[in-house]
Amino acid sequence: MNPILNPRVHSPRRLRRGASLRALVREHQLSPADFILPLFVVAGEGLRTEVSSMPGVYQTSVDETVKIAREAADLGIPGLMLFGVVDSCHKDAAGSRAWDPEGEVQQALRAIRREVPQLVLMADACFCEYTEHGHCGVLDQHQDRDEAATLDNLQRLAISYAEAGADVVAPSGMVDGMVAAIREALDASAHPGVAVMSYAIKYASAYYGPFRDAADSAPQFGDRKSYQMDPANRREAMRELALDLAEGADIVMVKPALAYMDLIRDVRERTDTPVAAYNVSGEYSMVKAAARNGWIDERAVVLETLLGFKRAGADMILTYHALDAARWLQA
Ligand code: PBG
Ligand code: ZN
Repeated sequence: MNPILNPRVHSPRRLRRGASLRALVREHQLSPADFILPLFVVAGEGLRTEVSSMPGVYQTSVDETVKIAREAADLGIPGLMLFGVVDSCHKDAAGSRAWDPEGEVQQALRAIRREVPQLVLMADACFCEYTEHGHCGVLDQHQDRDEAATLDNLQRLAISYAEAGADVVAPSGMVDGMVAAIREALDASAHPGVAVMSYAIKYASAYYGPFRDAADSAPQFGDRKSYQMDPANRREAMRELALDLAEGADIVMVKPALAYMDLIRDVRERTDTPVAAYNVSGEYSMVKAAARNGWIDERAVVLETLLGFKRAGADMILTYHALDAARWLQA
């Protein structure tokens, strides 16, 4: 690569002398335009309840969600990822509240589409927030996920999101065939312009803990290891990637991000399809906790981490730090 580098002549430090020189040789840039802000929508009005394990993150009713959406757009953040949070009275075995046209996410999509039309509206397509057992789909008599029944429901859900105004449907349940099923449903229902962002490489991770508080979506028994990936596996991730690309994914995601930077790089090198990294809830909470204790410099740590995702190869980053980071980048 650099066959003629001579340690007696070449000094990398020469290009680090002064902020202007460093700016000229800087290889990666972080910008608010890289961010997607995840939001948790609840029924009601005037509600803004902080998630105790995620300081600075709220469950918001539609009206309050619109206010945050406007704030995000004003800061230059291009997109939102919406999650619904429902009362247990709305939960059932299939998670049918998910595709209710009057559901939390659908109402938020319509309201934000109307009030802040420039935002890219993404909606997480899964059922764990809506099933009484907390698993990501329909279960069979052995408590195993019924892939075929879950795919049927994902098609209903995708159409319902598209009709409510989603630009991007984002299946997160690691259901085999989910991208193809959603693509087919969107095309057949006259929504060929709605994109699919697949949670293509999603590990069974302990880092989702705070999210499950925020979305009330923890499994009531067992775990998600039969559908989410084993953290030990890297080659398997390339098979997941290949399948989702073959099924027509428009954007592929790696999740979590911090402990899986090698996968972000692998995906970047394997495909020209845009790559998203999900800086998940547990990654957020760790930084918040350390910052609150005065143990780290929150601003510096957050910006360094987000820049690291870009350097690893991500085109876009889903992060709960998006509003703060966008403010810091503007300052
Ligand atoms: C739902 C879903 C989860 C996350 C995004 N979509 C939780 C899970 O799979 O258990 C995690 C996001 C985060 O931790 O920030 N399937
Ligand atoms: Zn789920």
